[in-house]
Amino acid sequence: MFTYKELHAATNGFSEDNKLGKEGFGSVYWGRTNDGLQIAVKTLKAINSKAEMEFAVEVEVEVEVLGRVRHKNLLGLRGYCAGTDQRLIVYDFMPNLSLLSHLHGQFAGEVQLDWKRRMKIAIGSAEGILYLHHEVTPHIIHRDIKASNVLLDSDFEPLVADFGFAKLIPEGVTNMATRVKRTLGKPIEKLPGGVKRTITEWAEPFTIKGRFRDLVDPKLRGNFDENQLKKATNVAALCVQSEPEKRPNMKEVVSVLKGCDHSNGKEMEMRIVLSTKRS
Ligand SMILES: Nc1ncnc2c1ncn2[C@@H]1O[C@H](COP(=O)(O)OP(=O)(O)OP(=O)(O)O)[C@@H](O)[C@H]1O
Ligand SMILES: [Mg+2]
Repeated sequence: MFTYKELHAATNGFSEDNKLGKEGFGSVYWGRTNDGLQIAVKTLKAINSKAEMEFAVEVEVEVEVLGRVRHKNLLGLRGYCAGTDQRLIVYDFMPNLSLLSHLHGQFAGEVQLDWKRRMKIAIGSAEGILYLHHEVTPHIIHRDIKASNVLLDSDFEPLVADFGFAKLIPEGVTNMATRVKRTLGKPIEKLPGGVKRTITEWAEPFTIKGRFRDLVDPKLRGNFDENQLKKATNVAALCVQSEPEKRPNMKEVVSVLKGCDHSNGKEMEMRIVLSTKRS
């Protein structure tokens, strides 16, 4: 769909100045095509390495998956370029970059994410994941949900990106979650003695005691909806339980976040009390 030459020109020769992020499997470059379209190009530098092999598989999964997936909260594929030694994926460029950049990155100082926008991001991301889990066949488990993979368009509508690690679930398999192993939350702080604590471990004692206000980003200066905060925290706590069968499905998550289901909010509180008592 794109030629290497076109993408090379659009990204100013994959110049360092156009780079959007760190070196992982590949790099992501900002670019502008001849007809003025802003794009993000995911590429790969290493040659003949294990990383390249993994990236090649990732690209194939991604292209295959993205080709079939269309949802307002999922970052679809704009195109790709698969030559003999170059594999590049092209997305629409998201002008507000990632959720991470607003929480902890280059936009963090600007505090553009008020409570309303944060709820919109939570609900939209959840709807994107709901679509992957329940609506597309075969079902898809993303396996790499994190703030840098939630991109924001000019309207702060969230688009979940990076299906590279996606796991396609064959029809009829219902207990797939038990076979997916990823960490729940990454270490955010080192305690004395060098023990690392994850964000979920940090949040848990506050959630159990109902001290929801202590979880809120101070940058919001107390401007948040306490009822929504409670619901969102409770449902998040249920989602990060280690036993997959205890977790709510994404339909339940979306309905709680949207506040459509009032009984569910209560039920969530019950479940969280029960599950913390049991463990
Ligand atoms: N379409 C896009 N528009 C704007 N920024 C993007 C786009 N795609 C990716 N980025 C940003 O580019 C950076 C690099 O992305 P990349 O996916 O390589 O790394 P990552 O998201 O940090 O980790 P992972 O490889 O696990 O997804 C990230 O900060 C990401 O948010
Ligand atoms: Mg990413």
